[in-house]
Amino acid sequence: MDTLKKFRQECTAFFDSLSAARVPPLVFGEGLHHRPVLMLIGEAPGEQETLQGRPFVGKAGKNLTAFLETVGLDRAQLYVSNVVKIRPTKVSAAGRIVNRPPSREEKELHTPWLMREIALVRPDALVTLGNVALQAFVQDTVGNRHGKWMRAVVSPPQGEAFTLPLYPLYHPASVIYNRSLSQVYQQDLETLRDSLRAD
Ligand code: URA
Repeated sequence: MDTLKKFRQECTAFFDSLSAARVPPLVFGEGLHHRPVLMLIGEAPGEQETLQGRPFVGKAGKNLTAFLETVGLDRAQLYVSNVVKIRPTKVSAAGRIVNRPPSREEKELHTPWLMREIALVRPDALVTLGNVALQAFVQDTVGNRHGKWMRAVVSPPQGEAFTLPLYPLYHPASVIYNRSLSQVYQQDLETLRDSLRAD
């Protein structure tokens, strides 16, 4: 069986086994899943992602795709995934089911699966989107690290640890809520594109 398919089945079985209640569908990565130039890693799926079973297809995803296009990066040439594969939700004061940031426990449960996923996909480099993804590799903030290449240790639970180049970006949703970040984001993407061209 294809290794990524097996990974998805094992991951789904693991999260099903943790909860007596029915686990909402897991949202796995998509795109070029064998040795892409870049693997983009977000935080967790939202409502649209869960409904469609695809990462980054809601508002933040549209923003991400548009930004990538401005620097000539085609989503189909990359692999896009998330640290947490299940939408974290809470009930709002108005009684609606809304997104919430993933808890520490959720991040700890999902990170080993992310490491396995990276080891299977074997991208040339990683791009983290926002703090949650960055902090799967280093205890620092995107404010300090964005737009500068670093080296990340990828440590799959079974198997040898290895390192990959990692380029931290802000989360595309933070650009929706904070317009002043838009220019910084654009600049960081241009730097990313230039470093890919230089290779
Ligand atoms: N935000 C994320 O971090 N991931 C998604 O898939 C969608 C929104």
